[in-house]
Amino acid sequence: MRFQTRAVRAGQKPDPQTGAVVPPLYQNVTFEMDAPGAARGYDYLRTGNPTRSALEEALASLEGARHAVCFSSGMAAVAAVASLLSPGDHVISSLHIYAGTHRFFTKMLQKTGIEVTFVETEKPENVRQALGEDTRLIWIETPSNPLGTLTDIAAVAGIAREADTPPLVVVDSTMASPFCQQPLALGADIVLHSTTKYISGHLDVLGGALATNDDDLHQALYDFQNACGPTPSPFDNWLTLRGIRTLGIRMKAHQENALAVARALEDHPSVAMVSYPGLESFPQRELALRQMTGFSGMVCAELKGGLPAVQAFTSRLELFTLAESLGGAQSLISHSATMTHASLSPEDRAAQGITEGLVRFSVGLEDPEDLVEDIRQALDGLQPYR
Ligand SMILES: Cc1ncc(COP(=O)(O)O)c(C=O)c1O
Repeated sequence: MRFQTRAVRAGQKPDPQTGAVVPPLYQNVTFEMDAPGAARGYDYLRTGNPTRSALEEALASLEGARHAVCFSSGMAAVAAVASLLSPGDHVISSLHIYAGTHRFFTKMLQKTGIEVTFVETEKPENVRQALGEDTRLIWIETPSNPLGTLTDIAAVAGIAREADTPPLVVVDSTMASPFCQQPLALGADIVLHSTTKYISGHLDVLGGALATNDDDLHQALYDFQNACGPTPSPFDNWLTLRGIRTLGIRMKAHQENALAVARALEDHPSVAMVSYPGLESFPQRELALRQMTGFSGMVCAELKGGLPAVQAFTSRLELFTLAESLGGAQSLISHSATMTHASLSPEDRAAQGITEGLVRFSVGLEDPEDLVEDIRQALDGLQPYR
């Protein structure tokens, strides 16, 4: 079945007991047993819940995976992956990553005796050079947050497989959604999503998910979920499943709108740089066409004039709300240096290319003409910064 059919149908059969067409919300913690130790499939919410199972089946189907495990947040899913490591292990990570993941790697993981080397995975050769005997995991974020740079998943997976003990390749695919990219088919071992973003799609749920084809990895990730308890609420699972049913349709509209916004930005003299994989000018265009099945709705731009220009621009915008997060119906703009990436040191921000003039757009589902008009009128107010 094709993507949008799976989005509507996978894991979402009518309820066998009642015929309810929409999978019911099982908002409860404990389940009656037939006899001591004889559960009918579920016993306790942390261990499992039918609403979560439905969501996991849907997510696995969208990623072309055998298994998916859902968590209470994207960061809980990051922590679950980290639980696969032991002291003394070495991790190679994309330099350009979400600041929360960077914070987790530098503040939490390194404290447990796990070394993390950040490299520009955009050049796979850097991964080969950073590989050591103890490298157990390669962490890729593609497209990266906020710059939207791409890493060649198949190339990195190929390098990993050449090692004597091949490290796991994990791809944070949040910015793409399963509609635009299927990392497992490109050789990744685990794909991660902050389902807070495109997958739930309505800016009203926090959640995370991991998908894999490996039975042992699935068991280990599930064991972390059960042992440590970063459990999503059934209602959040239900809302996420409701969002998934329109994922393919939303992603098509997101990318159509994002292309219109990116073109409007590219045409304006107050804009120094625009990054969007759907633009002909995108530096990694060939890789985008080869690796991605869509270009998503995230656009990044550098305004001339730094922070003062950003302040003037954001205050003039009417349809782009100044807020963190991404992937919802409402268009958002964020200033990475003072918002999503404020927790990085100025040196780390500079190393990641996050300048004062950089803004990230999560292009929503409003009418594209309204969005373009809004961008143009706000940019036209930036005369001093050309
Ligand atoms: C690329 C990426 N990965 C992971 C996360 C963490 O997800 P959450 O906020 O759901 O914990 C985010 C959040 O913004 C993100 O953008």
